[in-house]
Amino acid sequence: MEEKIAKIKSEAGRKIDSVVKSLEDLNDIRVKVLGKKGELTSILRGMKDIAETERPRIGQIVNDARRELEALIEEKNRELKAKMLTSKLEAEKLDVTLPGRRVVRGHLHPLTVTMNRIKHIFMEMGYSVEEGPEVERDHFNFEALNLPKDHPARDMQDSFYITEEILMRTHTSPVQARTMQAHEPNSPIRMIAPGRVYRRDDYDATHSPMFTQVEGLVVDQGIRFSDLKGTLETFLRQIFNDKVGVRFRPSFFPFTEPSTEVDISCVICQGDGCRVCKGTGWLEILGAGMVHPNVLKASGYDPEKVSGFAFGMGVERIAMLSYGMDDLRLFFDNDVRFLEQF
Ligand code: PHE
Repeated sequence: MEEKIAKIKSEAGRKIDSVVKSLEDLNDIRVKVLGKKGELTSILRGMKDIAETERPRIGQIVNDARRELEALIEEKNRELKAKMLTSKLEAEKLDVTLPGRRVVRGHLHPLTVTMNRIKHIFMEMGYSVEEGPEVERDHFNFEALNLPKDHPARDMQDSFYITEEILMRTHTSPVQARTMQAHEPNSPIRMIAPGRVYRRDDYDATHSPMFTQVEGLVVDQGIRFSDLKGTLETFLRQIFNDKVGVRFRPSFFPFTEPSTEVDISCVICQGDGCRVCKGTGWLEILGAGMVHPNVLKASGYDPEKVSGFAFGMGVERIAMLSYGMDDLRLFFDNDVRFLEQF
């Protein structure tokens, strides 16, 4: 019996020793020898066939063998786990000295940049920045701006109607009326109102049914045409350059009287005449005028007490001229090859 036990022990010891890799193999050996139906266990079970006087001694031997094998298995187990950890660390090695991957960073859209520049210039002159809805009431878009229902000038700004009384605003001028109505009558106003506007139009190199405007409105006691001229000249010299020529031409808008269109000397040819300015040396850049008495009245202001000027400009046009672009659609295509250039 002792021999049999010794043989089981030495054989198991050898097998344990020979395991080099797998924890499972080690477990198989443990089950085979020490498990419920294992070789050593079955000797304990067969105790009843052994002479009663021998039993304690044999039991002792089996238990010793068992303890020894358990210790061997335990040791091997630790050894295997350490090995696995080392090879895992080896395999997952990383080189912290490699150069990192750059994160691609976006940037502001050229229209946003231009808009921010415009806002900045006017904010430095003490203007507030107002907002109005893009879906606008006929009242604010036309009626309050001295454009009654049958006014022929409405045709120039044909638009997208939601109902008879509600439309996509055709210009930012309704914010003039909204701002005055939000103020105490006759209290001073100095604001700009940037935003998108909509007109029934083609989509080509110089037209889009949606574009961006910045409105301006100044109302106070004693505001004169010279204030309008000085303000817009100052603005245009800052947004383009201080040598740019500025010219005021008489024009017509129903909501201003007198009205003017403002040109700058061509930024491409410096006034000599080229394709962009169609040989004239001048570029039309904005519409403006003294606020019409009817517009002041419609929003509760008294034209006998206060006066004002207003202006409106297209942001795409200003951006195109300052970046030397010849196609407005580039702003809305969102082609990264274009956008990355800014
Ligand atoms: N609203 C006019 C347009 O869109 C521009 C303008 C604004 C003209 C303010 C005069 C005063 O054409």
